Order: sequence, then C-alpha cells, then structure tokens
Amino acid sequence: MDRSGMRSTVRDLQMYYNPELHGEVRLDTNTNVLGSNPAAAEFLRNFRGDVNGYPNTYSDGLRDALAELYGLERGNFVVGSGSDEMLDVSFKTFTEWGDGSVSPVPSYTLYEYFMKLNGGRCVGVDLDGEFQLDTDAMLAPGAKVMIMPSPNNPTGNCFRRKDIEEILSRTDGMVIVDEAYGEYAEGTMVDRVEEFDNLIVLRTFSKAYAMAGLRVGYAVASKRTAEMMNCVKIPYSVNMVSEGAAIAAVKDQEFIRRSKAMVDGQRPYLDAGLRRLGFETFPSDSNFILARSPIDHAELVAGLKAKGILIRDFGAKRRTENCVRTTVGTRELNDLLLSKIEEVLSGC
Ligand SMILES: Cc1ncc(COP(=O)(O)O)c(C=O)c1O
Repeated sequence: MDRSGMRSTVRDLQMYYNPELHGEVRLDTNTNVLGSNPAAAEFLRNFRGDVNGYPNTYSDGLRDALAELYGLERGNFVVGSGSDEMLDVSFKTFTEWGDGSVSPVPSYTLYEYFMKLNGGRCVGVDLDGEFQLDTDAMLAPGAKVMIMPSPNNPTGNCFRRKDIEEILSRTDGMVIVDEAYGEYAEGTMVDRVEEFDNLIVLRTFSKAYAMAGLRVGYAVASKRTAEMMNCVKIPYSVNMVSEGAAIAAVKDQEFIRRSKAMVDGQRPYLDAGLRRLGFETFPSDSNFILARSPIDHAELVAGLKAKGILIRDFGAKRRTENCVRTTVGTRELNDLLLSKIEEVLSGC
C-alpha cells in the first residue's frame, strides 16, 4: 500500500528529528546540562514498587505535589507523557475535524504535527521583527485554539505578558501558553488559570527538571477546563516509576534554582563568545540561544557533528534563515563549543 492508503490529514507527515548518535555532546535538545535530576535519580535507585498493579489513573500523587507547589488544587492539573501528550489532548478536546488552529512563526515544530494528527490545519502567523506576537494577526482568523510557547522555541525570548493577556481577553477560544522553558524565565501564567477560563498553561519535566527520559509533562487550567481534558486523555498514560520520580523532583526546588542560576550566568558568556566569532545572536530568556551563522548553517552543523557536538539547524526555515540553535552549556561545555566552532570556521 502507498501513502494514498493513509488518512488524508496525515499523509504528508514525516518522521521527527532522530539523529544517528555516535557519542556526541548533545546541545540540540535543550535538556539540562547538569545531568539527571538528582532527586529523581535517587527515587529510581530506591524504587521497590509493585509494577504488577496499574499506576494511578490520573497521576493524583503528582497532581497533589504540583498543587502544593503552585498553591492550586489537584483539579487544576492534567498530567501526561510529556507536554507533547498535553498538546495532543488539547487539540483532541477543543478542535473539530478541519479546524484551523493558530501558532506563531517561528515556533515549536510539533504544534503543526499535533494539529494535523487531530484532523486540523495549522494557521501560522508571523512574529514581528523582534520575534514578538502580532496580537491582531493572531486573533484575526478567529481560531478556536491558539498556541504560543513562552519562552519561544527556537527564538528563546518570552512574549510580552500584556500581549498574551490581550489575546486571552479578546477571544473565546482556548489559548495555550506553552511554558516548556518557563523555569528559566521570570514570571508564569500558571497563577492566572482561574482568572482566564480559556487559558491552558503547559509545563514539562523534560527541560529544567532534567527528566526528559521519563516523559512527564502537565497542563494547568481552570478546574472546569482541566476536567474536560482529563476526560479525553488516555488513562494511565504516566507510568508509576515516572510519576514517583516527578513527585521527588517537584520537592527538590533547589535543583531548579541551581539550574536557572547556571543558565543565567552562562548565557551572556556564550552569547558574547558567539558574537565574537561572527554570529548574530537573538535575546534569550531560556537555556538556549538562536544565532545566525557567519557560514552556511548546514556546513556549520555538519562540521560540529564531525567534531562530536550536536546543535540544531533551523537555517532552511523562513524567518530563521541560516540560523542554528544551541543549548547553553556549563562554562566547560561553552568553551568546548566555542573552540570547536572556531575550528570549523577556520577550516572554511
Ligand atoms: C516549546 C516546547 N514545547 C513542548 C516540548 C515538548 O516537551 P516534552 O518533552 O514535555 O514533550 C518541547 C520540547 O522540545 C518544546 O520545545
């Protein structure tokens, strides 16, 4: 059977980023360069649970821990296998077949994937020259769902709070603010979910929490909205090991503070190093930097891979022409990256 046998809405989907690995240093996925979350790792070492039984249907233990962290209630949370599951659940819950959903350009590539997976279309709306939201243009299509990552991936910057609030108050549609990198930024929309009934905030344990391998993410919303989403999400989608590790991690906020402090200290250092080598860098509120390469983007990324470092190539995409994205490392990693870039540049 050829692709005509596939459902028409998913026929043009391609497999996601899956690089062949040969022990490279990974600065391409914006995980935490300090290594595995220590509290989660300790939980895993000591885990003696009975895996014969099912995990809790809706990860109530983790929802309680999150409720305590944010001063909300268990009913405000939906927990899933990565925030990617929460994206899927959001479109499943709030869009009809054929609906167009709005997301900024450039932003997270998997938004379009989840829209199509749910029979919808992606309506891309360009960010302005400073990679900020064009609120009128975002609202113009009258979409039932609008989604925006803040800090934005791949540009790194947060959107202005007043723009997000304006979008929330000018639409009846659902507004998803994806705070996958929220721990690195100042402020959050989590504390506004009871004020805006149409707000869903997504967060993850994959980035600052240093637990991407365990696949846990969550949505925060008004209790009414969260209940609708919990009815749609796959029961038991978070296994008991991942849930227990995430509960341990929530209780160790010191690690999150240490991770943010490291990024706050190293981001200006890496930024200055990249500029010294001829890159145009863009302001970041996150643990990664988008930078326009002084040589061909593909040549740079391939050259670094050959020298044992992976960074992510965005250079062939509109608005990020010739740009690459790299995770902010420790001082040692940043020095390594900058020296390897220098070698690639001098070989050109
Ligand atoms: C903006 C954004 N949202 C969501 C995700 C997905 O995170 P998770 O690992 O929780 O599925 C990512 C991962 O790169 C991301 O960059």
